[in-house]
Amino acid sequence: MTEPQTANQTQIEGWNEGVGKTWVRFQAELDRQLEPIGAGALRAAALQLGQTVLDVGCGAGATTVEVASAVGRDGVVIGVDPSQPLLAVARARPVPYEAGQITFLAADAQTFGFEPQGFDAVVSRFGVMFFDDPGAAFANLRAGTKPGGRLAFCCWRGMEENPWMTLPLTAAASLVSAPAPSAPDAPGPFAFADPSRVRAVLTAGGWRDIALETFDTRIGGGDLDESARLMTRVGPLGAALREAQADKALIAQAEAAVRAAIEPYATPGGVLIPSATWIVTASA
Ligand SMILES: C[S@@+](CC[C@H](N)C(=O)[O-])C[C@H]1O[C@@H](n2cnc3c(N)ncnc32)[C@H](O)[C@@H]1O
Repeated sequence: MTEPQTANQTQIEGWNEGVGKTWVRFQAELDRQLEPIGAGALRAAALQLGQTVLDVGCGAGATTVEVASAVGRDGVVIGVDPSQPLLAVARARPVPYEAGQITFLAADAQTFGFEPQGFDAVVSRFGVMFFDDPGAAFANLRAGTKPGGRLAFCCWRGMEENPWMTLPLTAAASLVSAPAPSAPDAPGPFAFADPSRVRAVLTAGGWRDIALETFDTRIGGGDLDESARLMTRVGPLGAALREAQADKALIAQAEAAVRAAIEPYATPGGVLIPSATWIVTASA
């Protein structure tokens, strides 16, 4: 394996290629799945009319548009993300007439030179766990935030607390091996599972009044077929199948195994599986 040449190179390549393209394909399903958690993070941000807000790792832009609605016509939102395919979806999103001005910026939030003290708030739905140097990234975000400005984001707690991730892996265990566990502080979905690490990273970045609240909710909402398809394309099982370069037949077998395993979670509102996240807040 070659060493990354620039900050966050491995993650940025992934979000422009395999995982990024998968997120584009399943954008509607992922938005439905993540909406309740993102809404929790935006509530914690306590946004006000007329504010200037940064949405970090905005991806396909669902939260960016929600923020634009919250800050109204005198407000401004910048969605920053290095993934060109996801930004293309974001830029094509309809925006309500009364929403604030939106700019989507193709950049790395760890290193981009934001205008100093320009943001009233910095928000993110699962877009801040992918930095090689999270202390430097959060220092950069704080430098772009007005004194007293608010930070609010959501991130996953441990995989073992998130059955929507472990269930598919267990169901398909005889077909594909789980990805080798990454180091707990490696960039990735679980990089901020440990609350003491989150506090240390934010403190290193110069943030104050750091608070972590547990947020537990059932997520999903698709029917059995849609949910089984989604769970074999994203999350740890999706990653394992991509890594194993699984062919269509193997993916179909995994999908059938996942479908059987999630059947007990089917409700009239679709398949709903417990999830466990942190809602993190701080001030600049
Ligand atoms: C799990 S996705 C979440 C996307 C979006 N916030 C959502 O909820 O749909 C993580 C996002 O973080 C972005 N990301 C990864 N590294 C980043 C970096 N260094 N700076 C900004 N965004 C980054 C990815 O491109 C991806 O869009």
